[in-house]
Amino acid sequence: MEELRRRILQDGRAINEQVLLVDSFLNHQVDVKLMQEIGACFAARFADAGVTRVVTVESSGIAPAAMTALDMGLPMVILKKSASMILSDDTVQTEVFSFTKNAPYQLTLKRRFVHPGDRVLLIDDFLANGAAAFGAIRLIERCGAEVAGIGTVICKAFQPGLARLREAGYRVEPLAEITRMDEGVIEFADDNGV
Ligand code: G4P
Repeated sequence: MEELRRRILQDGRAINEQVLLVDSFLNHQVDVKLMQEIGACFAARFADAGVTRVVTVESSGIAPAAMTALDMGLPMVILKKSASMILSDDTVQTEVFSFTKNAPYQLTLKRRFVHPGDRVLLIDDFLANGAAAFGAIRLIERCGAEVAGIGTVICKAFQPGLARLREAGYRVEPLAEITRMDEGVIEFADDNGV
């Protein structure tokens, strides 16, 4: 997605080889118009996937996921990062280890929001190690639903998440695929410019 790549180059800042700051349009201040374009792009890419529900992980995935759900005319579900106070048969929970925060958290979903037979499009802001994505997949599949695709706004392809998800057989569509970063340097893969 050309406009996204342009914004990353203009407003993003690679602070080292691993971390890209995009808090002026994605993680803190949110450019809603850009999110709308991102939503339309995901909707077009997954138009053939028979999606019935959009799922995301709080909090920075919510804006792009909401715009995708709006464009596709589908419900959106947010996976919570806190443990449920009332664990019941209605709730599924899994531990996810955040590499950036170096701490685990409990990803939580109420079964009544994802049903057997659903085809879920999972949308998130970043794909790095894939820990959040694999945690989300565990919960979605535990509810009897199928993951129809994974849309990630920014994918750091030099970290293992993208390869691991594809090796596991999931369809992953990054809108901006970064192949290398360093202080002041951001390089993209050539094949996802639209
Ligand atoms: P993983 O899920 O792919 O394994 O990634 P990891 O644990 O490393 O990432 C955890 C958090 O850090 C996620 O946000 C993710 O979006 C974010 N993150 C990963 N790499 C970058 C990066 O290069 N730049 C920025 N800005 N964020 C990155 P989170 O902790 O869940 O926070 P939020 O969604 O509430 O914002």
